[in-house]
Amino acid sequence: MEKILLISKEPERWRDFEKLLSGSYEFIFSKPKEAADFKAASIIATDEVSNIEKIPSTEKSRLPLVFFDEADDFSKEIQARRQGATEYVSLPTDRELLLFRFKNLSQTSQLIKANGDDIRWMRMIRREMLSMQEGMAEIMAQTVESRDENTGGHVTRTATFIGILGDEFVESGKLTRDELNLITMAAPLHDIGKIAVRDSILLKPGPLTDSERLEMMSHPAKGATLIQKMQRRFESHSYLKYAYDIALNHHERFDGKGYPNGKKGEEIPFWARLMAVIDVYDALVSDRIYRKGMSKEKAYEIIFSGVDTQFDPEVLEAFDNCKDYLL
Ligand SMILES: [Fe+2]
Repeated sequence: MEKILLISKEPERWRDFEKLLSGSYEFIFSKPKEAADFKAASIIATDEVSNIEKIPSTEKSRLPLVFFDEADDFSKEIQARRQGATEYVSLPTDRELLLFRFKNLSQTSQLIKANGDDIRWMRMIRREMLSMQEGMAEIMAQTVESRDENTGGHVTRTATFIGILGDEFVESGKLTRDELNLITMAAPLHDIGKIAVRDSILLKPGPLTDSERLEMMSHPAKGATLIQKMQRRFESHSYLKYAYDIALNHHERFDGKGYPNGKKGEEIPFWARLMAVIDVYDALVSDRIYRKGMSKEKAYEIIFSGVDTQFDPEVLEAFDNCKDYLL
């Protein structure tokens, strides 16, 4: 039998009312200062507006709340409803009529509960999918990193850096927090196309010949093709859209003189413009087998010399704000 939790200073006042509903509902009485058993109830009832204020809002949103009154008082009804009462019952009333009203309330309660269960279930599935996506991105990023011994942590470091740079745009409202999370997840895949570049070129310590350079410059397009194949297989992995844009466009330049497609300005996806700065900065300050990384100051100088040519000025302004937080 469904239970009505009745919160009242004077529960004895409501004994007749309890009898009126006997056989259909069971009552649990609770005084306002006592710990009420909300879990057992499917409806909350009370006779004072001040009691409604003390009911936790999570319980008020989960259970129908009935206000009982011995008078038919509009102003009291308004006060009670303002505080969250879903139903106002003035007594005395007819048993059958009351049972109809309570039946409706029980149905509402069941709908709220079913809806809540659905939402919890969907949240759990979403969490599991996100952790699968993160796991997959991490494994692929590690594959890229293990292939290119020169870069020592570049792939994973750029993900951290793009998070710091992207935060500037979350604060300004240009990116949402969810978008930045996906961009951060996608960033380690920016050089995934290097998987298709031969070892003799990828691991060559000295300068590359023209044909070798061309093969190296094919990695954005090769990476994008690989990610496109993954997109077909894992449609629900929303970070792959960002991974595709970043892999294909991270060597494009703001002035249109980059590769592979010579895209210009805002034709280059915004997240790829973020990666372009981060990618160059990290490459400049990191040690390589064949050379020592340069100082941060020297790297800033080179990067800021690329305003309006290599890099988006808006991104460089944000980079200037947060550069001290980068390693
Ligand atoms: Fe690259």
